[in-house]
Amino acid sequence: MENFVEMIREKGFIDEPVHPDVRLVEEINRLRKEKNAVILSHYYVEGILQDIADYVGDSLGLSQAAASTDADIIVFVGVHFMAETAKIINPSKKVILPDMKAGCSLADSAPAEKFEAFKAQYPDHKVISYINCTAELKTLTDVICTSANAVKIVESFPKDQPLIFAPDKNLGNYINSLTGRDMVLWDGACMVHEQYSVEKIAALMDQHPDAEFIAHPECEKPVLILAEFIGSTTALLNHVQKSQANKFIVATESGILHQMMKACPEKIFIPAPSVDSTCGCNDCSYMKLNSLQKLYICLKHEMPEITLPQEVIEKAKVPIFRMLEISSR
Ligand code: 13P
Ligand code: SF4
Repeated sequence: MENFVEMIREKGFIDEPVHPDVRLVEEINRLRKEKNAVILSHYYVEGILQDIADYVGDSLGLSQAAASTDADIIVFVGVHFMAETAKIINPSKKVILPDMKAGCSLADSAPAEKFEAFKAQYPDHKVISYINCTAELKTLTDVICTSANAVKIVESFPKDQPLIFAPDKNLGNYINSLTGRDMVLWDGACMVHEQYSVEKIAALMDQHPDAEFIAHPECEKPVLILAEFIGSTTALLNHVQKSQANKFIVATESGILHQMMKACPEKIFIPAPSVDSTCGCNDCSYMKLNSLQKLYICLKHEMPEITLPQEVIEKAKVPIFRMLEISSR
């Protein structure tokens, strides 16, 4: 156990060899039943990790699933802030994450101490934070939102209530444009959604005039201006199923293409091009730290486990439950 703790600190996961005869999917199914565990996967993880999940969804859907589960263990196949959110919602349950190093550039862009100093400059403002932030940042927040419910959350405040939006400036800018607000924005961004090339997307649209260009609101404004549809991962997935188009250029993390292809096998999906065409930047390197083997080992040992100070849980749960309540109206 001591060794495991040290190994997790160093590597992020328990690096234990698995015999080639072990059937990972079968073993995961056996363990989840035996331990009454639920597997929640985000749309950005590898296809096989989406297929094995009890629930696969976007950040809002996953936090709603975490709020309604009666499992004893939640295995979060996603990134750290998502597993933390599940723990805050369910402090008495065990929440485990296959790789503790599955972080998020957006969450990292807003350290709580710096944000606290920033917030102090705007004493009359309420704070809305995108769920992609640390538990500590959530303690400094009035209401959490996701890309799926951001407009609803912003509009739950009176028009004359000044607001701060953190940490994603691109989503904040987009929500300002939709709601006519002038929220003060924290200067943070997601490394995956900031790397698209507007010039290459425009050229690809010329090459495929029958394709619809769709984008996630974490993308930069020039990319969003080109987009024919903008939405959270779930909204994008619903849109491709309803749209008359048979071809789509998709500006968001490539994991969602798995669900799009499953839902519409006859349609064509083209990942939007990056500035650097050699980097594989449409993959979130944090989400892709999850693997079937790490999921199996994590479920077997019930580690790495998310733990948070009670005081952080008490404070951070307030804006999360506020979001869940507003979303359910
Ligand atoms: P949604 O799940 O809200 O679409 O957000 C995407 C994302 O960046 C998650 O890390
Ligand atoms: Fe964070 Fe971006 Fe990865 Fe989502 S895609 S986890 S926002 S770095």
